[in-house]
Amino acid sequence: MNCGKFIIQNSPPLRGRVTIGGSKNSVLPIMAAALLTEEKCSLFDVPELSDVYVLEKLLKQIGACTEWDTKRKCLSIEAKRIVKTEADYDLVGQMRASFLIMGPLLAKTGEVKLPLPGGCAIGTRPVDLHLKGFSAMGAEISQEHGYVWAKAKKLAGAHIYLDFPSVGATENIIMAATLAEGTTTIENCANEPEIVDLSNFLNSCGAQIRGAGTDTVRINGVEKLYGCDHTVIPDRIEAGTFMIAAAATNGDITVENIVPDHLKPIIAKLRETGVTIEESPTKIRVSNSGIIKAVDIKTLPYPGFPSDLQAPFMSMLSHANGISVVTETVFENRFMHVGEFKRMGADIKIDSRSAVVEGVSKLTGAQVKATDLRAGAALIINALIADGETEISDIHHIDRGYHRIEDKFLKLGARMHRV
Ligand code: EPZ
Repeated sequence: MNCGKFIIQNSPPLRGRVTIGGSKNSVLPIMAAALLTEEKCSLFDVPELSDVYVLEKLLKQIGACTEWDTKRKCLSIEAKRIVKTEADYDLVGQMRASFLIMGPLLAKTGEVKLPLPGGCAIGTRPVDLHLKGFSAMGAEISQEHGYVWAKAKKLAGAHIYLDFPSVGATENIIMAATLAEGTTTIENCANEPEIVDLSNFLNSCGAQIRGAGTDTVRINGVEKLYGCDHTVIPDRIEAGTFMIAAAATNGDITVENIVPDHLKPIIAKLRETGVTIEESPTKIRVSNSGIIKAVDIKTLPYPGFPSDLQAPFMSMLSHANGISVVTETVFENRFMHVGEFKRMGADIKIDSRSAVVEGVSKLTGAQVKATDLRAGAALIINALIADGETEISDIHHIDRGYHRIEDKFLKLGARMHRV
């Protein structure tokens, strides 16, 4: 599917202010969690992203009512009536996060049938840990013809140890456990800020979740969940993308509507390269006016360096002073962007989970493709600093995670437009 391209010229250092939107990776699980409730939930600061629209369509398909209230600037979801407990392949295939409706539907209706989410550019992305959690809570799971069924008259609290702190598995199991009989403990779970936001949303609806944001979360099941108003946390990955772009272009920008605590790993790494960062409670100023020092990065579950900022940070390292080693430990195949970087003159050698990046003095504009949403954002950063003109195609990937990214970059002085 080819819908449009970005044409980007070499641009002056980025300057000015950019306001960050609500977090994509927080609003998606929260929209799924609304299926657990009996009354209207109103979500504020919902980012207008294609992933949000796809999930909204899926929720309506299974019977929820949704409404964008332009006056109150919120998305309301009412899930009293669930008419279907299965979703069709093309919608779930479009977006893996659709799998997050499994836990809520299983807990609310006692049965669910979903297509197994396919892999994508960054890896096979199995859901075995999600299913392990559901079966530990007494669900009967079966898989055939590319679908997975789960059935349980009433889920029972369980003690679950996750082999890997999977974000999605942690979220799916927490959601299922809110209506289970008894207490569920999840150990070695993910502690991303998005897990805390989901837990705060569910507790506002009457759930009893403790420990979100740590390695162990405890959920006491309750009879039913009500509605609530909830403001989604700012998107730390969008914020990090603009912070890196400012550093890479030797610019000076202020990023507003952020939670500095969520950006600690990226702030630390940027400072290591010599970038100046000034923090205040809701905004951060990033400025750079010198050589970018080469540094090593290793992606890890939170609070380690986020996998989602690996590609954007590699853009900056592509023309840093020296050799950097980028190690991707979260996904098994998240270097698809390296081929596109090399078309622009980057000097990168991949050795299984690591990429050795030798900084070059100059990148050159080229025709490149966005292979996933974060790789697409990284190519924009490359294009801003490269000599000449760059054409990025397959930009629908970028629209999944960044709302009208070109408007925000244009306001900072970038020379780019969408065709
Ligand atoms: C979430 O994906 C995010 N997506 C991803 O952001 C993010 O990169 C990822 O967490 C890691 O932080 C959303 O929140 C919608 P995982 P998720 O389960 O939940 C393996 C973006 O760009 N695994 O923590 O799918 C898996 O294969 C996207 O916004 C299993 O083996 O991530 C992967 O290697 C990309 N079995 C690793 O864990 C399972 O059952 C991390 O996956 C589940 C996961």
